[in-house]
Amino acid sequence: MSLLKIDVRTSPLGTPDLIAFFIKGSPLPAGVPASEFDGSPGSTLLLRERTQRTLLVGLGDKEKIEPESLRRAAGTAIKQLLKIGSTEAALDLISFPDHVTPAVEGALLAGYKFAGFGKDADKKKRGVLTKLQVLVGEHELIRARAQAHDAEIIVNVTNTIRDIGNLPGNLLSPALLAEKAEELAKGRALTVKVWKESHLKRDGFGGILAVGRGSANPPRFIVLEYFGGGKKDKPIALVGKAITFDTGGISIKPGAQMDEMKWDKMGGCAVLGILLAAADLKLPLNLVGLIPSAENMPGPDAYRPGDIITTFDGKTIEVLNTDAEGRIILADAIAYARLTYKPSAIIEYSTLTGAVVMALGFRRAGLFTNEDKLRDALVVAGKTTGELVWPMPIDEEYKEGTQSEIANVKQIGGREGSACISASFVKTWAEEIPFAHIDIAGTAWTTKPPAHLEAGATGFGVRLTLAALRAGLTV
Ligand code: BES
Ligand code: ZN
Ligand code: ZN
Repeated sequence: MSLLKIDVRTSPLGTPDLIAFFIKGSPLPAGVPASEFDGSPGSTLLLRERTQRTLLVGLGDKEKIEPESLRRAAGTAIKQLLKIGSTEAALDLISFPDHVTPAVEGALLAGYKFAGFGKDADKKKRGVLTKLQVLVGEHELIRARAQAHDAEIIVNVTNTIRDIGNLPGNLLSPALLAEKAEELAKGRALTVKVWKESHLKRDGFGGILAVGRGSANPPRFIVLEYFGGGKKDKPIALVGKAITFDTGGISIKPGAQMDEMKWDKMGGCAVLGILLAAADLKLPLNLVGLIPSAENMPGPDAYRPGDIITTFDGKTIEVLNTDAEGRIILADAIAYARLTYKPSAIIEYSTLTGAVVMALGFRRAGLFTNEDKLRDALVVAGKTTGELVWPMPIDEEYKEGTQSEIANVKQIGGREGSACISASFVKTWAEEIPFAHIDIAGTAWTTKPPAHLEAGATGFGVRLTLAALRAGLTV
């Protein structure tokens, strides 16, 4: 999916289609009537001169311009140019030297198109840009080159996981996801270990095994390691839920929109993306990525409500609804992170609850943490990347909802506050390790895409976390 070469320069080379960002109220080029273009966000106007085309794209009012404005405007422009068969474009950022990162991100994210599976899938593909020029002032060249280079790395990885994420359940089993992780790690400074059922049984991963038991496609546990930091630096552990399809199991879901549960693996995909990009960027820190993966199906051997499960660290769970499967596989993975790596922090990503979508909708993910530094770093990174997170409570009082008479913890509490109860349930396995849970159920995929994305997997969490890590996230 690496579509193009980025060339950062001070003036256009050849005659690329020029993308000119336009602040509302600025003077229009001579001959353009104000009725044709007002510069509001999303508005465009194509000007054809003899040898070159210029696409004006609106940013809206000056006071309201933020990184996301450039990201979306660049996305709008690229989509439009691809439609008219453009192969080479130049982003004019001479007046926007501080917005190189979001503009390049928006352009490259908008260049992604999931090929699909039709017989004529190739023909339906949007055109592909072969070259993107980025125009900046002389004094900005060095910084802009570094920023464009990093944005390209991060978006390429994001688009790779969007591609994996968009695969349906019959084409992406836990075993295939693990194979993809192994393939992608090749040639990168990453190690991958994949644990099959025999290994999971031997080491007591009762949660992953229970959830996977209803399916003919056996579960996997994917362990990624990236050691770019000092030998003695504790790693940060990133844990991601990867249910390749969630039917709900014996507590089966209603049929409407059940197909969307192919995206129940996006937490795991995000973790894979973060590790891949960390290696490509050679980040000076240690990271481990832990991806428990299973398919949640009803079947003769499926786990059932009432079952008692023993997780990796010996804590037991009383199952009450097999559709709350994410927290069960996460319990194993978080306990494994804690006991194996003694990480400085655990950040966990999951499409965990419908309740968080009710609370926050589709633009913001729920961020549940007691650690001020983690919260602040992630909230700031959300604003820079447009992958917004909103702090939600995770106090001890939510634990009351999951007290069991017959096991260490009950899997679910009541409906009220259930996004918070779920968060405090998964936190149980982190014990004393600083912990953040990011519920991406509303943001992992989209049906009403913003200008820089298309319908389907968004890759949410990759740009967010890399921004936080690169800003020096410490706990
Ligand atoms: N994968 C779902 C959560 C989900 C629902 C994500 C809708 C995105 C959109 C999760 O496994 C689940 O089914 N959760 C249940 C929990 C309930 C049974 C306690 C839920 O949220 O309804
Ligand atoms: Zn479920
Ligand atoms: Zn699920």
